Formats: sequence, structure tokens, C-alpha cells
Amino acid sequence: MRSSCNPTSFGIACSTGGYNIHIGEGLLDKELGEDGERLVIADQFFAGHLATLGIEAIPIIANESSKSLDRIADLIEALKSRQATRGTTLIAIGGGVVQDCVTFVASVYMRGVPWVYIPTTLLSMVDSCIGGKSSINVGPYKNIVGTFHPPLRVVIDPILAQTLSSEQRIAGLCEAVKICMCRGAEVFDAYLALGACPTVNDKDFAAVTELCLRAKKWFIEIDEFDRKERLVLNFGHTFGHAIEAASGFAVGHGVAVGLGMLAALNLGEQLAYTEMSDLRVRALRHHVRGLVTGVSGLSEALGNCSLDKLMDAFCADKKHGRDQLAVILINRLGIVERTMLPRNEEMLANISKAFARLKSDFSES
Ligand SMILES: NC(=O)c1ccc[n+]([C@@H]2O[C@H](COP(=O)([O-])OP(=O)(O)OC[C@H]3O[C@@H](n4cnc5c(N)ncnc54)[C@H](O)[C@@H]3O)[C@@H](O)[C@H]2O)c1
Ligand SMILES: [Zn+2]
Repeated sequence: MRSSCNPTSFGIACSTGGYNIHIGEGLLDKELGEDGERLVIADQFFAGHLATLGIEAIPIIANESSKSLDRIADLIEALKSRQATRGTTLIAIGGGVVQDCVTFVASVYMRGVPWVYIPTTLLSMVDSCIGGKSSINVGPYKNIVGTFHPPLRVVIDPILAQTLSSEQRIAGLCEAVKICMCRGAEVFDAYLALGACPTVNDKDFAAVTELCLRAKKWFIEIDEFDRKERLVLNFGHTFGHAIEAASGFAVGHGVAVGLGMLAALNLGEQLAYTEMSDLRVRALRHHVRGLVTGVSGLSEALGNCSLDKLMDAFCADKKHGRDQLAVILINRLGIVERTMLPRNEEMLANISKAFARLKSDFSES
């Protein structure tokens, strides 16, 4: 059963002056009906819908190879062949892949053109759509180059979530609960009160999206360029990136972040850094476990991640220092914080144990 949401808007302040977020049903078609010099770049998934509206979009296949620097050149040629000028506004429709490609292209095409973003995955709605960052792959190196180029506005139409797979919804909710936990007790409790789960209706997805974006707004306004406060939003990511890499990307980003938070809780418990009897810590663990348990093939994918590969990928993270490991843990007061741990045999054994416990928790008995 569908349930509609009330439209809402709020602003994000940034060094380029700021932009607005609009959330509401039917906003996709409304945005597409706007006049002006505009070109649509969209996930190939939407080509059919756009064609029925008479829009011939430049298509992007939403995979990592589309984010390669080589393919970006193709996109730039496509813009030029369609006579895009400095006055053309690019309309990006898609998840994080389209967002990364269009943010990057909009930041460099003719030294910068305006763009509007319409996120279509839950992950991009609740998380990546604000912040203004692009990340592009070069050869084997994922997300190695990028720019900051905030959009003119972000337009979120919760109806788009209806066609998402269960795994895509779970991935989005893992990032959603991460943001809310990082923001503190009040926001985390508000998140839990929304009863977020992969099967909730459009209205509740819209409410989760608004809660997360307002929470993320605080981080990006206080620390636009990722120097201090915003770094805690990497909670679950150092472990998560290692799981993505060690699984050969069989585990997608959002789900890997969920698993990464569970591994971080394991490490916090082993080091007596995290108070495991804290009600919110227990609620987080319970909620994330419930989410990722719904991912098909997870035990097999985790079973295929060797501890050696997990540790190699974990240690290769660029955020670590030579003698210290940068990790995000929950402290004894229940606050998510960044901490530096000594890079020694004992600590590495503890991290390996945290991964081993995670693997064992999800192994098929
Ligand atoms: N720039 C940033 O700040 C930032 C932040 C996080 C992640 N990312 C990047 O985002 C990418 C992941 O993005 P993502 O998870 O949002 O998705 P995605 O763009 O990788 O798309 C995933 C799949 O969902 C499909 N899809 C998209 N919208 C759909 C819809 N409404 N219904 C059904 N299917 C739909 C796509 O066609 C694709 O098959 C990664 O490359 C990651 O590095 C960027
Ligand atoms: Zn993430």
C-alpha cells in the first residue's frame, strides 16, 4: 500500500553559496518539465521512462567502469556533440555512479557548468546526494581522483524507491542508520522510531531520508572539506572497504558498511573501548544484523573473504598513519569517535579477530 508524503525543502550552506534539497512525490516529473537550456544524463535504467516523456537522455550504465577517467572523456564528447555550452544545466538522474560522473563532468566541462541532481537509489537519497564530492576511478584505483562541485539543487522523489531491489534498500538503510548513530542519541532514537526496514512505504522512506539528510547537513556545514567532524561519517567504512575488496566486490558498498559497523563493534568490545551493555549500542547491533541478514548470498560471500585479504585491504587504507591505525569506534559514552590505535602485532591480531568473529556470525551453520 502506498502512502504519500508532504513535500519539504531545506538548504545546505557551502562555500559556493549553498543549495536546496527538495523532497516530495512527483518531483521527478516536475523537474523534467522545467524550461531552459538543459541536458539530461541518466542511468540507462530510466531510458524507457524518459523516452515516454520525449527526453533523449545521455545514458550511463551504472557500474564502476563508467566511473573511469577514460569513460568520462566519452561523456564530455557527448555533451559537446549535443552543443552543451557554459549556460547549459546538466540534469543527473541516477544513483552514486551517475552522481560521481556528472559531478565530475560538471566541475570540469568548460571549467564548470551548473547541475541538478535527482538521486534514484536509497543510498544516494539518504547519504551521497549532499556533500558535493565526486570520485572517479583511474585504472585499478577506485575513487582516486575527484572534485568538489555542489549542485544547484537536489530533488528527491521517493516514488523512485519503489523499483529498488531489497538489497539496494538494505544498502541505503545501512548508510542511513550510520549517519543517525554518528549524529547522536536523539537522532538515532528518532531513526529507530521510524521503524525503518526494507519494506516500508514511500512516506516512511521520505521521513528516513529527511532525517538522515538533516543529520548529514550538520556534518558537512561544519566541516565541508572532510577535515575533522565529518570524518566520523566513515564509521564502518575502513572495515567495510576491506570487506568490499576482499569479496571481489560481491558485497556492495552499503551492505559492507553495515558489516563494517558490526566489525567495529567487535573490535570496540575486544578492546573494552565500547560499552556493549549501552542500550543504543545494542540497538544498533541488533538493527544492522537484522538488515544485513536479509541479503542473499551473504554467508557465501563472507566465507570467500580470507582473513589475509581482509587484513591486507584494511591495512592499505589511506587514512592510516605509518605507526597508527585510524579507526572509528563507539566510546564508552556511546559516542561515535575517530581514534588512533597503535599499529603493532597485538592490535593487528585484535582486528583480525574482529573480522573472524564477523565471518563466524554469518557463516551457515
Ligand atoms: N560522491 C559521493 O559522495 C559518493 C558517496 C557514496 C558512494 N558513492 C559511489 O556511488 C556508487 C554506488 O551508488 P549507488 O549504490 O547509489 O548505486 P549505483 O549508481 O551503483 O546503482 C546501483 C544499481 O541500481 C540501479 N538503480 C538505480 N536507481 C534505481 C531505481 N530507482 N530502481 C531500480 N534500480 C535502480 C542502477 O541501474 C544499478 O544497477 C559507488 O560507485 C560509490 O563509490 C559516491
Ligand atoms: Zn559510504
